[in-house]
Amino acid sequence: MNSDSESDFLRFANVQKSYDQKNLVVKDFNLNIPEGEFLTLLGPSGSGKTTVLMMMAGFESVTSGEILLKGESITRTAPYKRNIGMVFQNYALFPHMSIAENLAYPLKIRRIPKSEIKERVDRYLELIELQGFGGRPPGQLSGGQRQRVALARALIFQPSLVLMDEPLGALDKKLREQMQLEISRLHKKLGFTAIYVTHDQTEALTMSDRIAVFNNGVVQQCAAPEVLYEQPENAFVAEFIGENNFIFGVVKEIRSNVIEIEISTGEMVRARKVDDCQIGSICKVSVRPEKLFLISEGSQDGSSDNNVITGKLLLRQYVGDYIRYYFELPDEKEVVVKVLNDHTAPNIDRGQTARLLSKENDCFAFMAD
Ligand SMILES: Nc1ncnc2c1ncn2[C@@H]1O[C@H](COP(=O)(O)OP(=O)(O)OP(=O)(O)O)[C@@H](O)[C@H]1O
Ligand SMILES: [Mg+2]
Repeated sequence: MNSDSESDFLRFANVQKSYDQKNLVVKDFNLNIPEGEFLTLLGPSGSGKTTVLMMMAGFESVTSGEILLKGESITRTAPYKRNIGMVFQNYALFPHMSIAENLAYPLKIRRIPKSEIKERVDRYLELIELQGFGGRPPGQLSGGQRQRVALARALIFQPSLVLMDEPLGALDKKLREQMQLEISRLHKKLGFTAIYVTHDQTEALTMSDRIAVFNNGVVQQCAAPEVLYEQPENAFVAEFIGENNFIFGVVKEIRSNVIEIEISTGEMVRARKVDDCQIGSICKVSVRPEKLFLISEGSQDGSSDNNVITGKLLLRQYVGDYIRYYFELPDEKEVVVKVLNDHTAPNIDRGQTARLLSKENDCFAFMAD
């Protein structure tokens, strides 16, 4: 083993999983996770996220490959010996025990002295801002409060690794956002390594050091949030993370990393080449709604180094902090433009045309399927 991999805290090496000895639901999973990282597994339903967590926790066997913790294989170590904290979607607090007893439980089974248990339970109740709630049963707490207790119970025995499987899935939007902050705060304060599962991309983008995007048991890209958003390595990642327009056209020119396509308006659009498109083939260029700038017809604005797409306005949608404009191209595909509601948003009527400007660097060319 080389020194690089030894310095990694946690390592998945060629891990695969099949439940039926036929189909692989996790394929050739390789990932190094440094100590203290907040890593998120993000992907659609059934893509294998929970399966990875279950193998990590030891509740599911690994079909092939190895999981290494500080350079030692734990692939066949019993779950209770792995000393991992876990939080799941449905709290899973013991209903017949008080909040304090729930928090004390992981310490009791680790034979921590009574005096220390009391001190630590008080400290963790304070950490989750539930001082004074220790005597209540879980049934008398709100959903958000219960989830905070579940989180504290996973952290109280000070595990170096914490697994969280959609821990906020059952909460409403406002509570979920509060808890996202809470988890980030506790992670910074306590310094544990976290593997977090969600299919909420905003949650993943705001909380993670890195995100591994899963599809069909395969990691599509693993990178920091801004890299995933700004430099998607394939069309799946571009489409799954954030909102996207796909503009179709025929490849006319290829110059090293830049590709030029002719779109249905007859205009030429330059984009960064991601897939290996050929001249004459049909490509789709992805561009985010907030990376398109609106110039109403007749205005002289817009520098010549921008891509220009002329579209006809179908619908203007007032959202509050921004305005969404839906344009139609001659091939009947729609293009959405998001404009900040700061008095610069141009006045365009339905049926009117406008020019949509974009920078070559904000456009990515993929093969059309
Ligand atoms: N115990 C099991 N036995 C057989 N197949 C399973 C089992 N658990 C999961 N699977 C299958 O493995 C695949 C991956 O499932 P997994 O639960 O890991 O997905 P997920 O990404 O967590 O999805 P979700 O977002 O819906 O929770 C799915 O096709 C699922 O049907
Ligand atoms: Mg799951």
